[in-house]
Amino acid sequence: MRKMRLLHLYSAVLGTFCYLLQVNANFDGYVTLSHDGPVVIGGTITFRADVYKYDGTRPSGTFSYEWKDDGIIPHKYTPDHTRNTTAFWSISYPAEIYSVGIYIVEVKVIKKKTWFNESTRVATKFAVTSLLNGNMTIKQENATTKGNFVSSSLESTVAIDIRKGDLSFIMTNATSISTFWFIDCQYYGHTENFIFNYNFTDPDRSHTIEALVVASFDPPTTTTSLPDTTTSTTVNPPWLSVVSNSSINSTAISTTSTATPFTTSSTTALSTITTPNSLQNTTVPVFGNISFPFVCLNSSIVPPDPHNIYGYFQRTIEVRAPVTDISVDGTNWIQPWAMLNLNVTCEGSGPFIRCLQFHRGNYNVTGNETCGDGERKPNCNFSIIHYFLEPSDYTIVIILTNDISTNIHPVTINIYQATTQPQLSVIVVPVLCSLVALVLIIFGIAYYIQSRARFTVEVADFDFGQSNPDMEYKTFAERLRDSFDSAVRPGSNRISGYKPLGNSQLLQ
Ligand SMILES: *[C@@H]1O[C@H](CO)[C@@H](O)[C@H](O)[C@H]1NC(C)=O
Ligand SMILES: *[C@@H]1O[C@H](CO)[C@@H](O)[C@H](O)[C@H]1NC(C)=O
Ligand SMILES: *[C@@H]1O[C@H](CO)[C@@H](O)[C@H](O)[C@H]1NC(C)=O
Ligand SMILES: *[C@@H]1O[C@H](CO)[C@@H](O)[C@H](O)[C@H]1NC(C)=O
Ligand SMILES: *[C@@H]1O[C@H](CO)[C@@H](O)[C@H](O)[C@H]1NC(C)=O
Ligand SMILES: *[C@@H]1O[C@H](CO)[C@@H](O)[C@H](O)[C@H]1NC(C)=O
Ligand SMILES: *[C@@H]1O[C@H](CO)[C@@H](O)[C@H](O)[C@H]1NC(C)=O
Ligand SMILES: *[C@@H]1O[C@H](CO)[C@@H](O)[C@H](O)[C@H]1NC(C)=O
Ligand SMILES: *[C@@H]1O[C@H](CO)[C@@H](O)[C@H](O)[C@H]1NC(C)=O
Ligand SMILES: *[C@@H]1O[C@H](CO)[C@@H](O)[C@H](O)[C@H]1NC(C)=O
Ligand SMILES: *[C@@H]1O[C@H](CO)[C@@H](O)[C@H](O)[C@H]1NC(C)=O
Ligand SMILES: *[C@@H]1O[C@H](CO)[C@@H](O)[C@H](O)[C@H]1NC(C)=O
Repeated sequence: MRKMRLLHLYSAVLGTFCYLLQVNANFDGYVTLSHDGPVVIGGTITFRADVYKYDGTRPSGTFSYEWKDDGIIPHKYTPDHTRNTTAFWSISYPAEIYSVGIYIVEVKVIKKKTWFNESTRVATKFAVTSLLNGNMTIKQENATTKGNFVSSSLESTVAIDIRKGDLSFIMTNATSISTFWFIDCQYYGHTENFIFNYNFTDPDRSHTIEALVVASFDPPTTTTSLPDTTTSTTVNPPWLSVVSNSSINSTAISTTSTATPFTTSSTTALSTITTPNSLQNTTVPVFGNISFPFVCLNSSIVPPDPHNIYGYFQRTIEVRAPVTDISVDGTNWIQPWAMLNLNVTCEGSGPFIRCLQFHRGNYNVTGNETCGDGERKPNCNFSIIHYFLEPSDYTIVIILTNDISTNIHPVTINIYQATTQPQLSVIVVPVLCSLVALVLIIFGIAYYIQSRARFTVEVADFDFGQSNPDMEYKTFAERLRDSFDSAVRPGSNRISGYKPLGNSQLLQ
């Protein structure tokens, strides 16, 4: 009995010891595991493991990576140990063996030590999908399309970016690949290169672009499932009418994308729901009478042919007209303190973000002007009211931005000095008047002196003793006038020319 207890104690101690050893053998650092999935069934997915120390640096040493997954026939991979702290593993899930669903991959990283190897394991989930993975992108030349906005004035290039692993799979293994394009459920033809050009010319509308990529794996000996007129990307009315009406009846079986981890799935491929072999006549619509393998505007898809791999991509875009034809009404020659009142209008789709930048002097638009947090305007119809204090040239830069474009419009404002015009008359008129007055005075004095000289000569002949009663009552001015009169009377034209300046009456 005592021995038994002792044995229990021993084993407990031993267990603790072993546990402690295990703790000591734990990995000094961490491993990250990433992948480039999801992956289409049959495609290649690549995993990447990175070993780090807790401080984020890479450890040194020898590592061995043990990879495995939870497939029905598990993949396993244990390469030679390496000093590399990064390891990759690429696997694929062929449709003949595996089903679509969520899988788990695990990597065990062992760091070799003299006594006890350190090890850690990390796992990640990923999806094997029935459809090709990727994105639909829309590009327009010279435009930075943001979000789902598209300019109505530029050609749009719609492209399907298929995930690399999926693309290389269909490129190497498929016998034909076509992309069928639909806009608002209308068929617009197919292309062989995942690219479709279209002009969305109607502003302020939204459109749904759908693309169906069909990768066929049928041997090329049979009648091809796709028309061989590969360049017929234009709209074909008979096709259009048939295909646009052939939206699938969505009693579709959703793909089994909810497979649980570590469950083995038995269904190797999706059951054939429709008769896919009828896609054979090049003169009738490609998808003829069969249900088109996707629901218009609904991404639940039933691949009708298990031998094909499909990709369904959909995107809704908003068409916007760019900001154009900014016109500015109002006078831009004003006086300081006068109110500048300009009315601005433009063409384009609202809402607009408006910024006004005031620059003194002439300002050359660089194109770099930005309008961060401008005023939001529902329409492009507003006034600029401003007072300029100092006379100068100014430039108002109007920056109007809408969802797809920016228009920068400079307006030159001239604030002119209102006092320059009066100043001229203030200076010139008095100067002229003074000059005239000066001339008059000079002539006046000159004539006075002249006439006095004549008077004194004449006086010499008069008898000063006799008092002239007229003279006594005349003031100096009257006498001066008399003397003028007497001086003029002899008929000196030379002098009379100046008369009008002084007294117009004298002309008579
Ligand atoms: C794709 O083709 C390659 C070589 O042509 C072949 O090794 C591979 O098994 C094929 N993959 C599938 C899923 O059929
Ligand atoms: C580590 O692995 C990567 C990818 O396989 C490789 O490019 C690199 O050269 C390797 N480094 C060393 C030191 O082996
Ligand atoms: C440590 O790992 C190496 C390589 O994986 C292996 O050969 C060796 O037996 C391991 N040693 C111990 C004590 O587990
Ligand atoms: C794009 O910009 C370049 C250079 O500015 C110009 O030559 C070209 O015509 C523009 N393309 C379009 C579609 O506006
Ligand atoms: C698709 O878009 C997502 C998000 O924008 C991006 O993470 C992913 O890498 C893209 N895939 C491809 C194949 O371009
Ligand atoms: C789009 O419009 C441009 C110019 O009007 C034209 O050159 C181009 O061919 C059009 N593209 C399509 C797909 O109709
Ligand atoms: C499509 O089908 C609907 C009824 O299902 C019919 O009313 C419509 O005319 C058809 N359109 C064309 C283009 O055949
Ligand atoms: C879709 O299928 C259901 C039943 O399977 C049927 O009642 C309905 O008419 C079908 N709709 C079309 C558009 O074919
Ligand atoms: C292809 O269509 C034409 C006319 O629609 C028809 O005469 C011909 O029999 C069809 N061929 C096949 C293989 O279905
Ligand atoms: C600007 O618009 C207002 C009303 O919208 C109008 O009263 C004013 O006369 C306009 N000014 C000019 C310069 O057109
Ligand atoms: C604007 O450009 C013109 C001609 O390109 C140049 O003469 C002028 O100096 C520039 N003005 C400024 C303020 O840079
Ligand atoms: C415009 O901005 C770019 C990058 O922000 C800069 O390299 C360039 O010099 C700027 N141009 C002007 C005229 O400011």
